[in-house]
Amino acid sequence: MAQYQNIFTRVQVRGPLYAGVPMDRPGPFERQTPLRFNYWIGRFGDAQIGPIYLGWLGLASLMCGFLAIEIIGLNMLASVNWSPQAFIREFFWLSLAPPPPEMGFKIIPPLKEGGWWVMAGFFLTSAILLWWARMYRRARALGLGTHVAWAFASAIFLYLVLGFIRPFAMGSWSEAPPFGIFPHLDWTQNFSLRYGNLFYNPFHALSIAFLYGSALLFAMHAGTILAVSRYGGDREIEQIVDRGTATERAALFWRWTMGFNATMESIHRWAWWFAVLVTLTGGIGILLTGTVVDNWQEWAGRHGYGTQIITQAAVASPAQAAPGSTAPGSGSGAAGQQPGAPGQGGAQPAAAGGQDMAAGEKVFAKCKTCHEIGPNAKAKIGPPLTGVVGRPVASVPGFAYSETLKKKAGEIGNWDKEKLQQWLTDPAKYAGGTVKMMFKLAKPEERQAVVDYLETQK
Ligand code: HEC
Repeated sequence: MAQYQNIFTRVQVRGPLYAGVPMDRPGPFERQTPLRFNYWIGRFGDAQIGPIYLGWLGLASLMCGFLAIEIIGLNMLASVNWSPQAFIREFFWLSLAPPPPEMGFKIIPPLKEGGWWVMAGFFLTSAILLWWARMYRRARALGLGTHVAWAFASAIFLYLVLGFIRPFAMGSWSEAPPFGIFPHLDWTQNFSLRYGNLFYNPFHALSIAFLYGSALLFAMHAGTILAVSRYGGDREIEQIVDRGTATERAALFWRWTMGFNATMESIHRWAWWFAVLVTLTGGIGILLTGTVVDNWQEWAGRHGYGTQIITQAAVASPAQAAPGSTAPGSGSGAAGQQPGAPGQGGAQPAAAGGQDMAAGEKVFAKCKTCHEIGPNAKAKIGPPLTGVVGRPVASVPGFAYSETLKKKAGEIGNWDKEKLQQWLTDPAKYAGGTVKMMFKLAKPEERQAVVDYLETQK
């Protein structure tokens, strides 16, 4: 046996090139791909590539997937006026958004108002479901159980909840995440903010417990097998050249569905590394928190992605940078330095509008995750809103507004109650591009109330 080490497989698994066990009912596409070996692939798993089983389901799945990616990609390209340079430069920020709230759950919204998103989602979902069916049928054809397919189904369930089932239940596509790299991170961030930090959600807690639990189980199993491999614990390797065995069928299943398979040895190595990396990377992330980075969201903003947070407070006095109001108890050094922070502006008795004023203040609670208001209001994720009615658009000095809003500012002029209501209905639509406020107020009476409230806060 080769010397003990951790990263590569110790044994290059190379049987004679072999197309796999004989079958009762060979499908139309079966075993036609040319077989070959690849040395580097053999360092990570089985050195044999192919046969890949495409089949009608696989073909249909790839075509749907291609259509989905094409729709998303072309929409993103259109959003930068078909400039390939801008597309590459801004790729991580580009987005294809779901229909706006006023579309509700309309099955076929206008293309420009989320219709493309719905179509891309339809094809992506078809691609995934067809791929699922293909895995199910390949497992059956090989006489295997369908455990892999059902595990995959559980992942598909989460995907469907996010993009379809929950939006359906809420009666609005706008609840679904956008396509796009940073935009979907922004969505996740806003989701957590809007719903008061998901860590307090017991099911989120369970999910994390299972994630860590699977890392633990994975590590225990992988570590055990690797540890006894010096005594032949990885002897299943022999099965791969021993025709008709369980291992060989398992290997062929994965070659069929993705062209390549791990070996009985290498899969445990992968398992071991994945398990180790969950906690290693997690540990690094935690180590950097509070020591190097005080507020990850603000950090992301400063590095040019995610929603921009602060900045005056941090610029003026770094000691006060940690906004204590996002998560109670999270502000470390700055705790106690901002006595007025919780419930800013909320202390003032309802003056002018009576009932409306109270209603508006209540609605404003939704804005508070991002905006402060009142005499000492500072910038948070969004600019302070004290005196915003009558104020020129995008005019708080030092606040990093989006390019879109800055460009549009001259045209809009000063905020008035009507303009504010339109802005709150759909900021991106009102400003005609990507803005940093990822939030909408769907209900007209809430918009009315909150704008009345804003007017009282001079
Ligand atoms: C998730 C964070 C977030 C929430 C919630 C939020 N905003 Fe904003 N808001 C922002 C950001 C970020 C900007 C800056 C937009 C830009 O630069 O594109 C902004 C900008 C604004 C502006 C323009 C300010 C200016 O100086 O021109 C107004 C007005 C505003 N928000 C009102 C509200 C109101 C009212 C609510 C609650 C109903 C609200 N926002 C909820 C993040 C948020």
